Amino acid sequence: PLVPMRLLLDHAAENNYGIAAFNVNNMEQIQAIMEAAKEIDAPVIVQASRGARSYSQDAYLRHLMLAAAELYPNIPIVMHQDHGNSPATCKSAIEQNFTSVMMDGSLAEDGKTPADYDYNVRVTAEVVQLAHKLGISVEGELGCLGSLESGMGEAEDGHGAEGVLDHSQLLTDPDQAADFVAKTKVDALAVAIGTSHGAYKFSKKPDGAVLNMDVIKKIHAKMPNTHMVMHGSSSVPQELQDILNKYGGKMKQTFGVPVEEIQLGIKFGVRKINVDTDNRMAITGAIRKVLMESPDKFDPRDYLKPAREAMKKVCKERMLAFGQGGQA
Ligand code: G3H
Ligand code: 13P
Ligand code: NA
Ligand code: ZN
Repeated sequence: PLVPMRLLLDHAAENNYGIAAFNVNNMEQIQAIMEAAKEIDAPVIVQASRGARSYSQDAYLRHLMLAAAELYPNIPIVMHQDHGNSPATCKSAIEQNFTSVMMDGSLAEDGKTPADYDYNVRVTAEVVQLAHKLGISVEGELGCLGSLESGMGEAEDGHGAEGVLDHSQLLTDPDQAADFVAKTKVDALAVAIGTSHGAYKFSKKPDGAVLNMDVIKKIHAKMPNTHMVMHGSSSVPQELQDILNKYGGKMKQTFGVPVEEIQLGIKFGVRKINVDTDNRMAITGAIRKVLMESPDKFDPRDYLKPAREAMKKVCKERMLAFGQGGQA
């Protein structure tokens, strides 16, 4: 069944595990996640960004999720709005059967300018008020995602890789986090610790200078019952980079968030881990391989099946690493 996210995060906290939240915008991605979950008996968080909703259209997405719930009656599934940029976006997601929404008030509605704190508190509290009445969960975000390494990452503040802003100033402040959670009553808090969206996060395996796990430890010490969310948590495995490049892709060498760091975060209250890029890479690598090795093929199923299999493998690996196997 489709369930509110709070239910799964509370269970994850009680049993010391984390749950991967995978982004989707089509049928094969949803199938990949559900098959992975079924094999290891894992609860599921599926999420759609605003771009994903407009790409796939809400009605298709809604019915695909209903199909997943029908086909896998024993697996609890959360349908979550990723990075809602306004109360209106969150409202429309709820109308479309989402059971959880993110009100990302860390940025102004333009999605570029870092928002001021009072604005973030106001819009997030507004969404919590309307969502909780309907049994829908809410994720908020405090701080700005963006690589702490100059020249790396897709800065969430829209200044790109040039690092116009000093991102060390945009990490989540633990004292402010306590105030934010108290004022908004969010079910989950996304924190900024030096990760960024996309493949190009770090130029080498990250250390504490660029991946600040201390922020998580400090927030957990202050608020042991707050569920934290790690965004930008793809690990960007070397193997997936190599497959893409072997079959005609052009990816520069890059490093993501090591699974061990995520596992450390889970020990300190991280309950939701957002992963999109790794699945994108797995899908595209598998498709490239088929098209390059078998240029005679033109039935989409010939490459979509291996693509779906490749995403399923990544999903299963992450779910097992985060400890959600056997928890459905
Ligand atoms: O927020 C980042 C997710 O990877 C979704 O990306 O906005 O391109 O759909 P998107
Ligand atoms: P990645 O780009 O690291 O997969 O992060 C996805 C994410 O945070 C979606 O909100
Ligand atoms: Na943000
Ligand atoms: Zn994100």
